[in-house]
Amino acid sequence: MSEKKKFYVTTPIYYATARPHLGTLYSTVLADISARWHKIQNIDTFFLTGTDEYGQKVAQAAEAENKDPKDFVDGFIDAYKDLWKKYEIDYSHFIRTTDDAHLQAVQYWLVELQRKGDIYKGAYEGWYCTPCETYLTEKDFEKGTKEPACPSCERSTKWVSEECFFFKLSAYQDRLLRFYKDNPDFITPKERAAEVVKFVEGGLQDLSISRTTISWGIPFPDSEHHVTYVWADALNNYITGIGYAQEGRKEEFEKWWPADMQVIGKDIVRFHAIYWPAFLMASGLKLPKQLLVHGWIKMGDHKMSKSRGNAVDPQELLKNYGADAVRYYLARQIAVTQDGQFSIKDLEQRIESDLANDLGNLLNRMATLAEKHDATSLKEQSSWTPGEEALRAAAHATIKDFTQEMERGFYHMALSHVWKLLNQTNAYFHSQEPWKLVKSDREAFIRTLSATCHSLETTAVLLWPVMPKKMETLFASIGHSIKPGTNYVERIKGSWNSSFTIKKGSTLFEKPEKIEEKETKKETVEEPKKNFAKIDDFVKLEFRVGTIIECEEVAKSEKLLKLKVDLGEESVRTIFSGIKEWYQPADLIGKQAVFIANLKPRKMMGEESQGMMLCCDDETGKPCLSTVQYPVPNGSLLT
Ligand code: MSP
Repeated sequence: MSEKKKFYVTTPIYYATARPHLGTLYSTVLADISARWHKIQNIDTFFLTGTDEYGQKVAQAAEAENKDPKDFVDGFIDAYKDLWKKYEIDYSHFIRTTDDAHLQAVQYWLVELQRKGDIYKGAYEGWYCTPCETYLTEKDFEKGTKEPACPSCERSTKWVSEECFFFKLSAYQDRLLRFYKDNPDFITPKERAAEVVKFVEGGLQDLSISRTTISWGIPFPDSEHHVTYVWADALNNYITGIGYAQEGRKEEFEKWWPADMQVIGKDIVRFHAIYWPAFLMASGLKLPKQLLVHGWIKMGDHKMSKSRGNAVDPQELLKNYGADAVRYYLARQIAVTQDGQFSIKDLEQRIESDLANDLGNLLNRMATLAEKHDATSLKEQSSWTPGEEALRAAAHATIKDFTQEMERGFYHMALSHVWKLLNQTNAYFHSQEPWKLVKSDREAFIRTLSATCHSLETTAVLLWPVMPKKMETLFASIGHSIKPGTNYVERIKGSWNSSFTIKKGSTLFEKPEKIEEKETKKETVEEPKKNFAKIDDFVKLEFRVGTIIECEEVAKSEKLLKLKVDLGEESVRTIFSGIKEWYQPADLIGKQAVFIANLKPRKMMGEESQGMMLCCDDETGKPCLSTVQYPVPNGSLLT
């Protein structure tokens, strides 16, 4: 019998020293997207998140506020849970490292590893970074440096000298290197994997995993003046949170472990890609399948963080833009593998152009027409025209491309495929001119609405992991819903045979008020020389891709070629271009180029030119056609 598929995803557990900010929301949204992507395929999914509550960093923060550490950390839990709820983070369990079950399981783990000889007592001397809760290794600083800065956070470190327990990390060097080699997909993206391999190849020292100079931590069994080093405690949350070493939870643990995806930020790769696998090897447990390492959200040159005082409060964003739009922005705007700048302007632009225009408007126009012409109940179609078949093929191709990107955690890429489909659907809808079709061919009109609904259904399924609430509203607008127990991704891969009941609801995405614009007005006044275009200026122009299907010289003109261009519309357009001096008609036929499709038609040589082809001059002055990287459907909109 084949094993039922399962998916186990985790976030890092967050230091309970402050309320969550946009950076911590980012890790959590990525994990939620991945969890939901599996849920919508009816795959049994477990999603673990929580808080990291022990260690010196937390103890110092509590002391600074004159609070008992436990009372101090308790004070942040509601803020996390409340924010996750508002951002639709559908986790299965919220673990706190101060939970008794976690504490006992970690102590069991310590005893086990001592018994096996992987943990031994010794003495530690070296530099320690409290904000990162990390020991510097010799590779991290030049010998003889006084108080070296931490290589990760650049803050000062302090000298620590104490008796401690060590984990025999050095014994795992070869096994780790073999594991990375045999599992090239363990770390995404690959550049991070290369850094890890290099670090391990450089040699591993045993790791100090207990402290005697602090008391806020999990007591070491039988050596109670030692507390467990916070990372040795915290990393284990990924197994204790699903039942490791807990009575009556063996089956549960075996069901979920190993984790399928662990989302982490690039600052904690060393802990997750070196220490954590070594701990697991020592425990005789399987290793996680994939670490998805994301970059930082930055403000200017710096990582966004509470301690730097540059953190954006996600609660504020919620008030202005709503959870789904912010989730979309985080997943789409910031390439998961790189650092990204946070900008309200970009967020508003994404909402206006991607969500309100490309998606919301399409739904709205389709639903308005359906209601106006009494066509809200759409039955299964018996046949499709080549135009709709092409759209269906595009939708199926999108599902394939989207799936591939989602599997490796490249959500920004996955989303760009959905927008390609949305552009194709908009182009199809436009070219069908259903508002005219309804008067001449009702059957074709209904078919157009149905094809558009099918494409929107595909869009809603693929976007649900990112924008669950809004996509549920979209579903409701076409008379469908998402319920557990169905593999919706499999369903949209099938032939287009759905029926729909269209209900025009309120606007799916409101265009944001231009808060930022008001603020930047001042700057624009101060810098009048920079001739910035506003996004409104840009969206006024329709840049579309078209194929030149015919081309001839205009006899009476020295400059002009007359082009027939397929812009994905019912009829081809006539467009004149002043490039005769450089091109023969045969050079151009079959080529795709970018055209401004909504310029007011202009009479040229007695005929109307219905658009403009875009070119730039090369270094010799010859016009070079602007084109796209690879063929796309005619009519595709440049955004
Ligand atoms: N407690 C440890 C993790 C232990 S996991 C066993 C920790 N906590 S943290 O609160 O400092 O950070 C947790 C996660 O939030 C990290 O993955 C970190 O990269 C992420 N982020 C914190 N600020 C961030 C940004 N500005 N941008 C992106 N991610 C950020 O480390």
